[in-house]
Amino acid sequence: MVKIAPSILSANFANLKEQIEMLERGGADYIHLDVMDGIFVPNITFGPPLIKDLRGITDIPFDVHLMIDKPERYIEDFVKAGADLITVHAEATTHLHRTIEYIKSYGIKAGVALNPATPLEAIEYVLEYLDLVLIMTVNPGFGGQKFIESTRRKVRKLREIVDERNLNLLIEADGGIKLDNYKEIVDCGLDIIVVGSGIFEAEDIAERTRIFKSGI
Ligand code: DX5
Ligand code: ZN
Repeated sequence: MVKIAPSILSANFANLKEQIEMLERGGADYIHLDVMDGIFVPNITFGPPLIKDLRGITDIPFDVHLMIDKPERYIEDFVKAGADLITVHAEATTHLHRTIEYIKSYGIKAGVALNPATPLEAIEYVLEYLDLVLIMTVNPGFGGQKFIESTRRKVRKLREIVDERNLNLLIEADGGIKLDNYKEIVDCGLDIIVVGSGIFEAEDIAERTRIFKSGI
């Protein structure tokens, strides 16, 4: 069964505690936290202090998606804030292998994200060091964007590589995943889907989370 990582980017931040409780009731497997710096992406969100406060209200693993330039500068802060998994963008760090090893040196899991235009070849030689690959299915920066169809091919290709090389990593997709398209994307070989607006636009957030999980 596919795992679900609701992104709180589309949440109402004035009601974050209640909304996270609803995600918990819906069986969320991770909480996906979108960190944006206004440089790597044209939007700014939140940083370690918010994540630290949220750590105090839930035990759901934190999947921290860093859309920031030179993420190696802030890894320790996000680890201390309570991240269970940190994903950096291949496009944002020069020494990708070093950054991956640095994240893992804190005893947490490391992921790499690829923008829609970045080929899988960019991570070919680091795959065996990774716990997760995040395929961006929109250009990062905003919730509520339209799914980019060509990324399905990328997920399929990565699934083939992972199976062929018998790699122990999870494949996650993020962006534009909704009730009306998630099944065909999951079928391309995903382990985890990130869903933002597709959950938070629902009247009942817990029920919507459950629906994505159960595949009904
Ligand atoms: C996009 C973020 C996503 C986003 C997904 O930059 O990385 O996590 O919040 O939101 P939806 O599901 O609305 O596309
Ligand atoms: Zn994200």
